Parts: sequence; structure tokens; C-alpha cells
Amino acid sequence: MDATQKKRAAARAALEFIEPGTRLGVGTGSTVNCLIDLLPGVRDRIECLVSSSKATTALLEKQGFEVSTLNQVGALDLYIDGADESNKRLQLIKGGGGALTREKILASAARRFVCIVDDSKLVGMLGSFPLPVEVLPMALEFVSRRLVKLRGQPVWRKDFVTDNRNYILDVRGLQIVNPLETEERINRIPGVVTVGIFAHRPADVLLIAGDQGVRELRA
Ligand code: A5P
Repeated sequence: MDATQKKRAAARAALEFIEPGTRLGVGTGSTVNCLIDLLPGVRDRIECLVSSSKATTALLEKQGFEVSTLNQVGALDLYIDGADESNKRLQLIKGGGGALTREKILASAARRFVCIVDDSKLVGMLGSFPLPVEVLPMALEFVSRRLVKLRGQPVWRKDFVTDNRNYILDVRGLQIVNPLETEERINRIPGVVTVGIFAHRPADVLLIAGDQGVRELRA
């Protein structure tokens, strides 16, 4: 199976978690795009949808779905999203697509978070994938210097502005031995909007697609 086939397989497996009456949060990225292609098939089980990005909203609307805001819906039953890395504790790095802030909000608002990945995303220790950090534009240099003090190598994602009109720093060189602590430390830097470590709100279920099919890890 190539990467796209694996992404489709993981997305298909996630459909089982959508029960009748589900208030569903939808993530962002190429794996979630496979899910969005399949959602019309379970339309009757979806009570309402909340989106994590403008890109996802556009795709959902193209499929004929009405997209609600989190303020309208309140709480979510289920959030489905991809990830850039996951460890076996289902702690994640996210934000490769730059939607990490809204993704973290929806994941936190959901009773259950199902993460869909191909097997290349499962790692022993988080940090090989450059860690995305969303930053207020006026604080870019200040936050960069603080990240260097934490032994990271931040690189400004050029020509990219998030849906919230902020910038992204991609931080290389971090060995994230303790994801909970690193998430807290980076979150505490003034000017940081969101760090792409999802350790305080890890996934509840990880669906990993590989050549042998889709296996499931639970937190
Ligand atoms: C978007 O901001 C990200 O968090 C994505 O969820 C993550 O990058 C996974 O994307 P792919 O499914 O495209 O690998």
C-alpha cells in the first residue's frame, strides 16, 4: 500500500466511531481530506459538524455539509484528525498544515479524539518532525530567541499566515523526552499562541494504517 492508500484506510476505519447523533469535529490535512471524501456516506449519523480550518470548511461545504461554529454547538462528541507524529502514549505533534490552534481547541472540546495516521507517523520519541509553534507576529523574534534558549532551532515558515492571522515557527532539534513538560514550557513563552505538542490532550484512539491493515492503539 502506498501512503495515500494507507491514509484512506485509516480514514475508513474512523467512520465506525461516528454514531447516530454525533456532533463531529473535523481536523485538517491530507488524511482528514480522505475522511471528508467518505463523510457523505454517513451523513445520516452526523448531527452537526465543526471545522478546524478554512481549508476543511471549504471541503465540507463542497460535499454539501453545513458547518457550525464551536460556539453554536458547545461540546463535541467526537473529534477526528491526523497527526505529524504520535508516540505510543498517543501524545502527538500536530500543525504541519498550520491549523494547530483550532485543532487543539476542537480536540479539547471533544469527549473523544480519534487520530488517523499511516504507520510512518508512529515514533519512539516526538521531535524528529519540526515542532510547529503558532506565534503572534509582533513576538516572532522574541519567541525565537526563547526557543533557542530551550536548545531548539526555530525557522519562520515564510509566506504562511494562519487562519488566525499569526505566524508559524517550525522548531528543529528538540528531543521531546517529556512532552507534557515541553508543551507547558513553550506555552508559557509570552507571544506563543499554541505549541503543536498534544500531550495534555492526547488522542484517545490512534488508528494506524499499514500494509497489514489498520490497527488500533488506545490511551
Ligand atoms: C494540520 O495543521 C496538521 O495538524 C495535520 O493534522 C497534520 O499535519 C497531519 O497532516 P497529514 O494528514 O496531511 O499528514
